[in-house]
Amino acid sequence: MSAPYLSATGMRGGYGKADILNDCTITVDQGQIAVIVGPNGAGKSTAMKAVFGMLNLREGEVRLAGEDITALTPQQRVHKGMGFVPQTHNIFPNMTVEENLQMGAFIRKDDYSGTLAQVYELFPAVADKRRQNAGELSGGQRQQVAVGRALMTQPRLLMLDEPTAGVSPIVMDELFDRIIEIARTGISILMVEQNARQALEIADLGYVLVQGTNRYTDTGEALLANPEVRRTFLGG
Ligand SMILES: Nc1ncnc2c1ncn2[C@@H]1O[C@H](COP(=O)(O)OP(=O)(O)O)[C@@H](O)[C@H]1O
Ligand SMILES: [Mg+2]
Repeated sequence: MSAPYLSATGMRGGYGKADILNDCTITVDQGQIAVIVGPNGAGKSTAMKAVFGMLNLREGEVRLAGEDITALTPQQRVHKGMGFVPQTHNIFPNMTVEENLQMGAFIRKDDYSGTLAQVYELFPAVADKRRQNAGELSGGQRQQVAVGRALMTQPRLLMLDEPTAGVSPIVMDELFDRIIEIARTGISILMVEQNARQALEIADLGYVLVQGTNRYTDTGEALLANPEVRRTFLGG
């Protein structure tokens, strides 16, 4: 068996001197959807930042397609195939939708018009509003712009921190359908979600993170069936 596409193992680190992550391990196979859930403040966003290189790790390593990328900057990781949609401030509200997507292609020197067309095909509502300022869009559409922006570099691993925060259940379902569609093209997805139950339903692999440490790791299905996980983390 080959190594997982993303393999972030034994991560320890945090902000300043305080460690938030402690022996935290996250892996994702090619084309898989992995979901991180857990209480507020558990370190989910911190784990994503660590994988993306926004945090200095005191221990542990991050490998992408077998290559040790622990020492690389976020921009270097984008070149290696990572795309990251942060939890907040993930669009430029005063720029048009199309300008946001063009900004997403910042590292590309080739013709990205084909990728732009693909993003518009994936998110038709966003295509209709390409000349509008992104800040005028609904919450769900803004998240689509943010995801589309990350797709502009043609990542092999797409990381999403709470992509469905603040959207209605219908918009959430629709966004999850699009994420499944993205994964089917072979792109790996690593996603943090507050809508834990729904996210685990589409997850090949789920992580329950508590105080910066892995508490449970299993298939989404198994976690949803686990009585202890249900009671403690999924509201029964
Ligand atoms: N920039 C930061 N500086 C200092 N502490 C932070 C910073 N961001 C988050 N923290 C702290 O790290 C812990 C984990 O936060 P976070 O990773 O955002 O949790 P989650 O995403 O699971 O809600 C929390 O105690 C939070 O207060
Ligand atoms: Mg968070």
